[in-house]
Amino acid sequence: MEKSKLQSLISEMTLEEKAGLCSGADFWHTKGIERLGIPQTMVSDGPHGLRKQEGDSDHMGLNDSIKAVCFPAGCATAASFDRALLRQVGETIGNECQAEDLGVVLGPAVNIKRSPLCGRNFEYYSEDPLLASEMAAAVIKGIQSKNVGTSIKHYLANNQEYRRITSSSEVDERTLREIYLAAFEGAVVKAKPWTVMCAYNQINGTYACENKTYLTDILRDEWNFDGYVMSDWGAVNERVPSLTAGLELEMPSSGGKNDSLIVEAVNNGTLDEKILDQACERILNIVYRYTENKDQSVVWDKDADHELSWKIAQECMVLLKNESRILPLNETDQIAFIGKYAKEPRFQGGGSSHINCSKITSAMDVVIGMSNITYAQGYQDNTDDIDEQLKAEAVETAKKAKVAVLFIGLPESFETEGLDRKHMRLPLCQSDLVDAVCTVQPNTVVVLHNGSPVEMPWVDKVKGILEAYLGGQATGQAVVNLLFGKANPCGRLPETFPIKLEDNPSYLYFKGEGGKVEYREGVFVGYRYYETKKAEVLFPFGYGLSYTEFEYSNLILDKSKMADTDVLMVSVDVKNTGTMAGKEVVQLYVSPEGGEIIRPIKELRAFEKVELIPGETKTVTFQLEKRAFAYWNTKIHDWHVESGKYKVMIGKSVRDIVETKKVELESTVQLPAVYTMNSTLGEIMQNPRAMSIMGQFMAGMTMPAGMEDSDNGVMTAEAMQAAAVESSPRMILNFMPDVKREDLQKLLDALNQ
Ligand code: BGC
Repeated sequence: MEKSKLQSLISEMTLEEKAGLCSGADFWHTKGIERLGIPQTMVSDGPHGLRKQEGDSDHMGLNDSIKAVCFPAGCATAASFDRALLRQVGETIGNECQAEDLGVVLGPAVNIKRSPLCGRNFEYYSEDPLLASEMAAAVIKGIQSKNVGTSIKHYLANNQEYRRITSSSEVDERTLREIYLAAFEGAVVKAKPWTVMCAYNQINGTYACENKTYLTDILRDEWNFDGYVMSDWGAVNERVPSLTAGLELEMPSSGGKNDSLIVEAVNNGTLDEKILDQACERILNIVYRYTENKDQSVVWDKDADHELSWKIAQECMVLLKNESRILPLNETDQIAFIGKYAKEPRFQGGGSSHINCSKITSAMDVVIGMSNITYAQGYQDNTDDIDEQLKAEAVETAKKAKVAVLFIGLPESFETEGLDRKHMRLPLCQSDLVDAVCTVQPNTVVVLHNGSPVEMPWVDKVKGILEAYLGGQATGQAVVNLLFGKANPCGRLPETFPIKLEDNPSYLYFKGEGGKVEYREGVFVGYRYYETKKAEVLFPFGYGLSYTEFEYSNLILDKSKMADTDVLMVSVDVKNTGTMAGKEVVQLYVSPEGGEIIRPIKELRAFEKVELIPGETKTVTFQLEKRAFAYWNTKIHDWHVESGKYKVMIGKSVRDIVETKKVELESTVQLPAVYTMNSTLGEIMQNPRAMSIMGQFMAGMTMPAGMEDSDNGVMTAEAMQAAAVESSPRMILNFMPDVKREDLQKLLDALNQ
């Protein structure tokens, strides 16, 4: 609806109606106003399928939802590194929404995986903000192409479940910009979500829902967000300050309590009614964007979407190990499928994203007609306790087969919304089973069902590992296709698998104390830490194997020198040198050589997935702009590129770099400097103008005895030079008899002009 029409509609609303419009009608609907013809719209979780609840008697959002299709969770889809695939997921969910009359999907969820312990990691995409924001942008574009809104969530710095409603994430400006905001930024700017969901937690002591810096200054003024912000369910702390800060819609209904505070504030003059009008306009703009474009013709074919869900899952699973080419399996061999998850797979996490599935396909459902496949349950779900009888049966079954495939993973009780994991291990009964099976069966393959990394003390004992993640309701079909080589694994890890939990950079401070969670690892999140520390990991970020091989050659940068305002074109050739068609994820990392700024040694700056038939070569091109080389500078509160050399690296993973070239960058931004008596001469020397003024001042001065020689027998020339660089105007004053304080101060004043 046009702005002027929206405004005239709002001018007809009473103060109470306007305040009321800014909160939900119930758990899932926005309010309608019948006398003005304003419709209600329904929202629904998200993010990987619909959780549309029916009936209006449910005030807690706990009733069963309609039967729907559960697609692979965010942990899995991010592993595809495939924008087109995520767009397809989005389009499908968008169509489902049209068929079910849902105006907004509550997702995607892009929070950074700061620690493997976060109970909701299974919903989130990555430890890397570029990957997270690109995946989110693709889903958003897909859903919104069907004229249905999205709600990118949970904005901002919501990275744990412990005290999730009240804790304060204490994060410095640069870390917020480079990591936590960046995950949202790319998606908001590129894909323009219709709504943003504001998180429960505080950011540096102010509730996210009341935080004007993030809701207005950054989201709207910098990123040009033009939809409405809604609260996470029950996240509003103080309603009037939240409205002023930029939170338009409170969800769900607060039973009118907070609406009356808004009315009171307008009446007593503490809230400008224009702010309320603006919030109503933003909400109605989205309400009408949906209702005016409603497509009545869409029919939801759940079987077709079920089929799509395994096709998608197949593109996401990651082959982590394939010793002696144990995989793909030979269809005629005697194979033992062991583990409860072969029959009852774990394919989604617990909490608000939980879907009431239309159908479930397990691995055993798929191999039902194959008489060479045997089965044993092996363990009980949801417990650490070892069931000796199940274990003995499993070992016996494994022994008789040529290959044992173990289906294990994290039970729902180990990873769910509202509760962080207590450790990074698998249930004891499952890891014990791996050990037991490996003692009788040298050909053991593990299929993992989990939403977040697990420790694998048995990694050297098994020959194959397929990370299936939480692959959606048809996960069994995807697993079987990959195990038997009907499809070629092409997922890559969107997160590092550390060897043990204690290796994770957030380990020491993860839960925080007294409700304050200090993000002391700063920008060194995930691989940014492991790479910079050259620490051993179990499997690195970006890693994943294929049944074919890829070779890289011919890395070309179109410039060797450039200004930070220029664009660098990068191209590289990738060839499928194996015998099976497959997909490779070409990853581009940038690494600064030297420089003053403490920063990660490598950062993902671009990626592309390519499909290649055997013998085929494709040239992949990337375009790198300033941001690819920049860090967030807290003096200018902007992105800044340090002048100097940078490596442009192509990797099969962050650790396996196969091609490198260098480019030299020249900054076009002169950082403001205020030189004082205690600035170092090194700092002054960095500024050519300051250097020349200083040079003139020093010319002809008499150096104190012993300092004129480059090597005076007490200090080496190099140490003398270092001492000079670290010295300051104050030291000149103290050591040089000729220099007067007033003259030196005049000089500094001149430098600062
Ligand atoms: C979750 C959101 C979800 C909402 C509605 C909240 O508890 O944090 O992700 O969209 O509930 O179910």
